[in-house]
Amino acid sequence: MKGWLVVNAFLRSEKFDAIYSLLLCAAKEQGAELELVSSDRLLCTTESGFSAFSLPDFVIFWDKDATLAYRLEQAGARVFNSARTVALCDNKILTSVALRGAVRTPETVIAPKTFEGIGYGGSAFLRRAGDLLGYPLVVKEAYGSFGKQVYLARSYAEAKEIVSRIGWKDFLMQKFVRSSVGKDVRVNVAGGRVVSAILRNNPDDFRSNVTNGGTAQAYRPSDAQKKAAIDACRAVGADFAGVDLLFGENGEPIVCEINSNPHFKSSLDCTGIDLSRALLAHVLESLR
Ligand SMILES: Nc1ncnc2c1ncn2[C@@H]1O[C@H](COP(=O)(O)OP(=O)(O)O)[C@@H](O)[C@H]1O
Ligand SMILES: [Mg+2]
Repeated sequence: MKGWLVVNAFLRSEKFDAIYSLLLCAAKEQGAELELVSSDRLLCTTESGFSAFSLPDFVIFWDKDATLAYRLEQAGARVFNSARTVALCDNKILTSVALRGAVRTPETVIAPKTFEGIGYGGSAFLRRAGDLLGYPLVVKEAYGSFGKQVYLARSYAEAKEIVSRIGWKDFLMQKFVRSSVGKDVRVNVAGGRVVSAILRNNPDDFRSNVTNGGTAQAYRPSDAQKKAAIDACRAVGADFAGVDLLFGENGEPIVCEINSNPHFKSSLDCTGIDLSRALLAHVLESLR
């Protein structure tokens, strides 16, 4: 079996390289030939498509470029995660729509769309969102990672200030889940099964992301947490993912977000369990 590990050409770091090495290593262990392919190598015209390339048996898609994933699928490649899943997970607004009815999520208000150079104007809708969700509320840009594009607004004035900084980008607002402040569980799932989980904690910030200063420890998820993570993956069609779960008032899981190409290095360091092995096993099994 030959595969491509498609990665973003421009977003490179040691942390990303470590993940790629683990995936390449897991493939080798399981008898597959996985080649690292930087997204800028896949340049082609719409006319020629990928006809100049010899497409592999499978693609592990570790980029967020859903249009590239769609084009690979159009050319006949088996792409894991699928283009649809990559698109749904990358955009927190689409994720929240896809999860509705499937799992519990924080109560969410999606901001109406605006345009570059116009912005969100008088923001009467912000008043209404505040009335619906109460303060503090969480403001999240549709696209973001590592907690960087997630903000806490303690009042209408703060919300207005955050939104003016966001400019014209798509965003949503959520009820602040107080019972989970600075704390969440990252559940790593592959092939409909929970592979590992960590508890993340940040005493100094409501965002528990490790990159944002949170600490992590191995965690044994409850049956309810496992089910929530698996159901969330099913709702977005994810073959594998890192699912973030908040703690509700009685500890019940509330799905925060789904990462279609999760950074699983912290999970590996804490638990000794390597998601890439289960991930590759699932991909190769699906092709049989
Ligand atoms: N509605 C919420 N209530 C309380 N905490 C939240 C809420 N949404 C997010 N968080 C915290 O912020 C962190 C980052 O949010 P998340 O949606 O996972 O964005 P990112 O993609 O940047 O990780 C979460 O891990 C969690 O600790
Ligand atoms: Mg997250």
